[in-house]
Formats: sequence, C-alpha cells, structure tokens
Amino acid sequence: MSATASMLAQRIAKAADVVTVALDELLPRADGPESRLTEAMRYAALGPGKRLRPFFAMETGRLFDLPERSVLRAACALECVHAYSLVHDDLPCMDDDDLRRGRPTVHKAYDEATAVLAGDGLLTEAFEIMAHPDTHQDGEVRAELVRRLAVASGARGMVGGQMIDLLGVHGDLGAVARMQRMKTGALIAVAFELPLTMARPSDSERHALTAFGRDIGLAYQIVDDVLDAEGDTEALGKAAGGKDAERGKTNYVTLLGVEAAKERVNLLTAQTKAHLDVFGDRGEILRSAVDFVLDRKS
Ligand code: IPE
Ligand code: IPE
Ligand code: MG
Ligand code: MG
Ligand code: MG
Repeated sequence: MSATASMLAQRIAKAADVVTVALDELLPRADGPESRLTEAMRYAALGPGKRLRPFFAMETGRLFDLPERSVLRAACALECVHAYSLVHDDLPCMDDDDLRRGRPTVHKAYDEATAVLAGDGLLTEAFEIMAHPDTHQDGEVRAELVRRLAVASGARGMVGGQMIDLLGVHGDLGAVARMQRMKTGALIAVAFELPLTMARPSDSERHALTAFGRDIGLAYQIVDDVLDAEGDTEALGKAAGGKDAERGKTNYVTLLGVEAAKERVNLLTAQTKAHLDVFGDRGEILRSAVDFVLDRKS
C-alpha cells in the first residue's frame, strides 16, 4: 500500500470509530419490552460497516471548517438511514440475504417483524437526530438538512431505486444508471449535500462537490455489482458468487459483463476526480478516497 493509501485507510478507520462511538451514544436503549427493538436497531447500526457516507460528510465538513459536532450528528443521521436500508434490503421479501457485515442479518438474528420495526426505528431516529437543535443552531438550516435527507431516502431516491431494482430494469443502460443513482447514489450524494447546506461554498465549489457525489455514488454501486460477481464472501461479509445474476437482477454486470462494468468504473473514476480540480491541494483527501473506495475488495 502506498503512503497516501495507508494514510487514507487510517483516516477512514478513525472516522468509522468516531461515528460508531457517536451512534452508540445517540441510539436509544430501553429497559421495557421494547428493548428487543432497540437492541435490533443497535445490532444493525453498530455492526462493522465501512461508514463511508459519514467519512465523506466529515471530510467535506473539514473542507469548509465546519464544526465537527454538527457534521458528525448529520453523518450519524445519514448512517442510520443507510443501516435501515440494509436491514430492509436483506429481508426475505427483498434480496433474502442471511449475511451482512460478516454476521447474520437482522431478520436471522431476531425475526422478520423485528427487522421491519428495527428499520422503521432507525429511519425515524435519523430524523430525530437531524432535527435536534444540537445539529445546528439555525432552524432553517436544520429544516433544509431534514428535507435533503428525506429526498435522498424516499421515493425520489433510495426507496424509489429499490422499487425499480425489485421490478427489474426494462430499458437501456441509461435506465440502469438511473436506478443505481436512486437506490445507492442518492444516499452517497447527500453525504456531500448535508455539509454543503451548513457551509457557504462558492457556486463552483457547490457544483463540483455535487457532481463528485453523483459520480462516485454511481461508481460505488457498479463496484458493488462487480464484487457480487467476483468478490469474496468472507472479505465482503455478505453473500457473493453471482447472487445478483442468480436472482435475475439487472445491473451493469448482468447486462454488460464484468470487464465492461470495470471499464465503466475506470471512466467514472477519472471523471469523479476531475470534479475536484477547483479545490486544488485542498481536495487531495477526497481525490485519493476515490481510488481507495473504488478499488475496495470489501
Ligand atoms: C452496501 O453499502 C450497499 C450498497 C449501497 C452498495 P456499503 O458497501 O457502504 O456497506 P457497509 O455500510 O460498509 O456495510
Ligand atoms: C443495495 O443494493 C442498495 C440499498 C439501497 C440497500 P444491493 O442490494 O446490491 O446491496 P447489497 O449488495 O445487498 O449490500
Ligand atoms: Mg438490493
Ligand atoms: Mg442486497
Ligand atoms: Mg449488491
């Protein structure tokens, strides 16, 4: 690993630790019978995820010298939505997966009804965290943070994309790209939008980071699809071995094959990095994160 890559790996690991500690503090604990629910929520959210969306949010916050506490809370809210999306994505009525982050999925460790409720609980918890005055002193900014996370999560974003994924894309590559941008890209792009909402970026900076989030979001899902086809279940912590193809999913890999999908990722990698030119040296961490994130094996 090069010196930059190992520095970056440490930085991502540090961000993951900070987010996990913060989530542990933020997520509810209960003594009553509802403790089954809060335990399942904690099981889903505190498991060993990469925390890439929070990492992106926190690095963007650093670019604009935003207060770490505000960005961390917004990042935790985003990670709660992401964790919920995985719990529901794994349900038998969706992708029907037994393994997530190297452990039994929530419906396997608990049961289906608890997994549905744990997802519901994490989704609503996200908005409780975001709307709290500790996230930002200005109520208008908080309302905009809530709105942006809602748009990225809902029918125009992740949930809408999940619907298309389940129906199967009946169309060309453009239709596949739209599905990927919705189901995965939206929750990645919003990691940049949230700190931008708290900052005062120039038009060119806002434009650059929005485009960066959009492209890395799409590339991220194509890499996920490549890893599904040729990744290692043990390293990934979730089932691989061509599960998407087996289930009749439509994506870049099942449509074009692994090599052409990888070529697409290479093109997107260069395009994604180029958006950061406007930041000069200040963009170096995010620029190197592109290779790191898209070359991942887990
Ligand atoms: C998995 O997301 C689902 C996708 C949207 C591709 P991650 O690869 O970020 O999963 P964790 O959070 O590290 O487990
Ligand atoms: C996940 O896509 C998208 C979500 C919104 C959760 P996948 O179904 O490919 O994600 P994995 O492979 O199960 O993590
Ligand atoms: Mg899925
Ligand atoms: Mg899945
Ligand atoms: Mg996948």
